[in-house]
Amino acid sequence: MALKDNLPRYVWMTRDGKDGDFVPTEQATVHVMTHALHYASSVFEGIRAYNTRRGTAVFRLKDHLRRLLDSAKIYRMDVPYTVDELAEITLELIRKNGHKACYIRPLIFRGFYELGVLPFNCPVEVAIMTWEWGRYLGEEAIEKGVDVMVSSWNRMRPNTMPAMAKATANYANGQLVKMEAHLYGFAEGIMLTSEGYVAEGSGENLFVIRDGVIYTPPLSQSILPGITRDSVVKLARHLGYEVVETAIPREMLYIADEVFFTGTAAEITPIRSIDKIPIGKGERGPITRHLQEEFFKIVNWEVEVPWEDWLTPVYGD
Ligand SMILES: Cc1ncc(COP(=O)(O)O)c(C=O)c1O
Repeated sequence: MALKDNLPRYVWMTRDGKDGDFVPTEQATVHVMTHALHYASSVFEGIRAYNTRRGTAVFRLKDHLRRLLDSAKIYRMDVPYTVDELAEITLELIRKNGHKACYIRPLIFRGFYELGVLPFNCPVEVAIMTWEWGRYLGEEAIEKGVDVMVSSWNRMRPNTMPAMAKATANYANGQLVKMEAHLYGFAEGIMLTSEGYVAEGSGENLFVIRDGVIYTPPLSQSILPGITRDSVVKLARHLGYEVVETAIPREMLYIADEVFFTGTAAEITPIRSIDKIPIGKGERGPITRHLQEEFFKIVNWEVEVPWEDWLTPVYGD
């Protein structure tokens, strides 16, 4: 369902850099001369709240908000809110909107004042939105896997745009990848670095499995430091798997036993073919399945979670 037909009641936002408030969603608008609209001067997060066995809970809320403030710092944005304050506001917004499960979108952007490229006189605005969002790569993707291609677009190289910042500007690159993949009939595109190593999908990190060992590109390969990536690395090691962060050549994708994406939106999504070459048996592999099962037990709070702070209850239950 289109978001415009399924709007939540409230958005939380600042105006002119002043204290933020909960406003009815239809009034949560910005001026067309907003700096961020012209120069992509904004950073954001994507977070999920799950309807768990123990009530609604947000997955790794403070880790996401920390990355948000890190992204803002890289872009020299002074944000007058702490991680703890933003966490409280987020929980209150979910309660006001009455969600059981939702996607959460905090956004920090340079607002409306003047339109030179130098952004310092424009106010730094903060907004938080929530909405209900299902499986990002399709309902069947989690079990059946997806068909993807290696994009003709590379991930931006270091010292062009900071890949560790989750900046909207990076998603100009991501959109080119996603549109190309979509128009060629694939669910997603995999970006290589300018040296030809595997980086990530337009909105996901990537893992490759061969002979029981799990490989994923390190931060030096221009990837976003994904929270789900970190969760899967910790979980896999906890389950006894060997996880190696290393540069991955393109052809390693084709001869892998299993490949999967991770991301807040994509969760853990198996990849069954790349450039029309079947991965392993061309279906979800056993290690991917094992990691998915354990991951979903955690986000649904069906087990004691070995890592403190991974789940934050929303309604105090
Ligand atoms: C480019 C990119 N890489 C990786 C990820 C996965 O990050 P996370 O697991 O924190 O959602 C995302 C999703 O936000 C992304 O947009």
